[in-house]
Amino acid sequence: MSGIQDKVVAITGASSGIGAATARLLARRGARVMLGARGIGRLDALAREITEAGGTAHYQALDVVRPASMQNFIDEAQAVFGRIDILIDNAGAMATAPARLADAGVTVFSPEDLARAVGAIFEFAEVDTEMETLATATG
Ligand SMILES: NC(=O)c1ccc[n+]([C@@H]2O[C@H](COP(=O)([O-])OP(=O)(O)OC[C@H]3O[C@@H](n4cnc5c(N)ncnc54)[C@H](OP(=O)(O)O)[C@@H]3O)[C@@H](O)[C@H]2O)c1
Repeated sequence: MSGIQDKVVAITGASSGIGAATARLLARRGARVMLGARGIGRLDALAREITEAGGTAHYQALDVVRPASMQNFIDEAQAVFGRIDILIDNAGAMATAPARLADAGVTVFSPEDLARAVGAIFEFAEVDTEMETLATATG
C-alpha cells in the first residue's frame, strides 16, 4: 500500500500543469484529492476523469489571493473529506489559512517547497508519458 493511500491532499492551481499532473498521480496512488483553481470548467473535467478512473476527487472554485476564497476551499475540503492531511500550495500566493493549517498538523507545501516536492513525486512515480512530458517541461 502506498504511503499516500487515503491521504486527503488539497491542491491549489489544480486545473492545469503541475497541479493537475500531481492530482492525477496522487489519485492513482490512492489519495483523495481536493482540487482548487479559479475556473471550474477544467476542475470539473479533471474531477470526472479521476473519478471515472476509480479515484476520489472533489473541487471548489478558488482564488488564492482572496483569504475568504481560501477559507471556503479549506472548509469545503474538511466538510467533504473530514480533514486535510497535505496542502500542495501550487498556485503560489497564500493568505492566512496555511499557518493555521500547519498549527493543526496539516503538512503544507509552500511555494518554496514546490520544486522539491514535485521532484520527490517524480522520483517515486512510475515513469509514464505524462510524467516524462512534465519532467521535461519543468527541467
Ligand atoms: N512550469 C514550470 O516550469 C515551473 C517551474 C517552477 C515553478 N513553477 C510554479 O509552479 C506553479 C504551477 O506552474 P504550472 O506551470 O503548472 O502553471 P499553469 O499550468 O499555468 O497552472 C497554474 C494553475 O494555477 C491556477 N491559478 C492561477 N492563479 C490562481 C489563483 N489566483 N487562485 C487559484 N488558482 C490559480 C490556474 O487555474 P485558473 O487560471 O483557472 O485559476 C492553473 O490551474 C506556479 O506557481 C509556478 O510559478 C512552475
